[in-house]
Amino acid sequence: MSDPFATINASIAQTLDTLLPRQSDIAQPMVDAMRYAVLGGGKRLRPLMTCAACHAFGGDYQPALPAACGFEFIHAYSLIHDDLPAMDDDNLRHGQAATHIAFGEANAILAGDSLHSLAFQSLAEAPAISDAAKLRCIGLLSKAAGWPGMAGGQCLDIAAEGQELTLTELEALHAAKTGALIQSSLVVGAYCAEVQPEDPRLALLSTFGHRIGLAFQVVDDILDVTESSETLGKPAGSDEALDKNTFPKLMGLDGAKQRANELLEESLALLKQADLATELLTTLAYRAVRRTY
Ligand code: IPE
Ligand code: IPE
Ligand code: MG
Ligand code: MG
Ligand code: MG
Repeated sequence: MSDPFATINASIAQTLDTLLPRQSDIAQPMVDAMRYAVLGGGKRLRPLMTCAACHAFGGDYQPALPAACGFEFIHAYSLIHDDLPAMDDDNLRHGQAATHIAFGEANAILAGDSLHSLAFQSLAEAPAISDAAKLRCIGLLSKAAGWPGMAGGQCLDIAAEGQELTLTELEALHAAKTGALIQSSLVVGAYCAEVQPEDPRLALLSTFGHRIGLAFQVVDDILDVTESSETLGKPAGSDEALDKNTFPKLMGLDGAKQRANELLEESLALLKQADLATELLTTLAYRAVRRTY
């Protein structure tokens, strides 16, 4: 059977390559680090979500490509910073040296800063979406990446090392540090199809994104315990070493697996309810939960 994602994956790879800078008269090591961090690997889940959502609403994914890549730039920046000595202090990512190991801490921090900016530049310059849609997308991505979303969640993740959060607090942490970007990658995809904010399907898509985004981090926590560094391409056991708050720690491995499955079921039901259960979105929901890396 042909892979329904093959064409979209190739388009994402090509757009990432085109949008990333190659040469700079003033900052070549930083530019090299940006390309290394983004092009070195990754499942591309967030850009695939953006493209799949745009396709579900508009029948085409092409208009969403710059926005999709914007999500991957924010994600890659978050991973560069997440691996730094001041944060998780991990030296392996995508089966290769973490960016700060390969390029030094200063270049890694700056590459993260520039990927953050490049995400918004990509959206601002997206050729095939309306200005109104761009503004909606930029607003959503800012919130998802910033203090109420990814960066805020990372702050709590670090602050809560060595303390035990309640389940409600842990779900809020995971929904912010990981869920917010995944959730907004979907809604941004819909905006790229020129869906209007009043469309009732948007709220259902957003709730789908919330559930699947949370499930994604629950599974990330599980894999940190059950898989090898070789399979993951990043150091296994990192969470336990740092005394992080994780689902397996709070509910046991079986409890965490059950929670991930419940969230997947809820997600699939929401897609059906919104009449958005396309092959692409349904497959992505499964991929987010049933994976080994
Ligand atoms: C890892 O995300 C970090 C989390 C937010 C859980 P991914 O597993 O999507 O990372 P790559 O890009 O595919 O390696
Ligand atoms: C990171 O969570 C979430 C981000 C916002 C980058 P983790 O620290 O668990 O991600 P990995 O396991 O290092 O990829
Ligand atoms: Mg972390
Ligand atoms: Mg980490
Ligand atoms: Mg992890």
